[in-house]
Amino acid sequence: MFTRDDIIVGLNTTVIGRKLFVFDSLDSTNTCAKTLADAGLEEGTVVLADYQTAGRGRQGRSWLSEPAMNILLSIILRPSISKEQASLLTFYAAVSVARVLECMNVGKVECKWPNDVLLNGKKCCGILLENSFQQDRLIYSVVGIGLNVNQTQFDNGISTRATSVARESGSTFDRKDIIQILLKETDRLLPSLADGRINTIVDEWKDWCTMFGKSVTLTQGEETISGTALGIEADGRLVLSTLSGQSTYFAGDVTIVE
Ligand code: BTN
Repeated sequence: MFTRDDIIVGLNTTVIGRKLFVFDSLDSTNTCAKTLADAGLEEGTVVLADYQTAGRGRQGRSWLSEPAMNILLSIILRPSISKEQASLLTFYAAVSVARVLECMNVGKVECKWPNDVLLNGKKCCGILLENSFQQDRLIYSVVGIGLNVNQTQFDNGISTRATSVARESGSTFDRKDIIQILLKETDRLLPSLADGRINTIVDEWKDWCTMFGKSVTLTQGEETISGTALGIEADGRLVLSTLSGQSTYFAGDVTIVE
């Protein structure tokens, strides 16, 4: 386990992590960060936990993580972006994580629409974005990042699709070091949100993403749609060319058809 002091020492960020809460155990860092954001805590506030009793994933799924193995954190953001652009904040987190993994040199890094970062083709990180709006104004976003670091065993159901830094590299890592690098990277990218240059982040995310031009299936609940991934819209929706024409999708799970 790491302490708050372990993280803060040498963390020379400007905004991200200037206020930092560290817990041994929480229901969910996103739930906690949303409570703090509702209470008015500032942009850059970070909630970290060693274990979550009710970690949440996209589409009502659970996010399971063994105690003291991985990185579970949530960041409060208050960017001046439009409601339409709010979903793009997932890409801000994905690009930050991709940069961290790339500089660790632990395998091939890819971003996968809408919210995953892959290592050697398997999911190593999931991102859960939760936005709060008042009318058409974004009040805050909570960006939750679950990054698998030292866990090497995964549930049977996901074992072939999930991985961790340790599983791919054969080495264990000090999570505190990775947390610091990740907070520095999110801090470095933050001005791109403030200056309305979020498109630069989206462009970098596209560079990390390998599915464009490829045949994919998109699963939404019981429905599976086949098509070619063409790109993403300005609001982050996926554009697919299907037999019935071009369509856009806001959510779903994508598989590249080899
Ligand atoms: C997904 O891939 O479905 C998103 C998973 C997001 C998991 C992280 S772990 C930290 C934060 N707290 C949560 O409850 N969820 C996110």
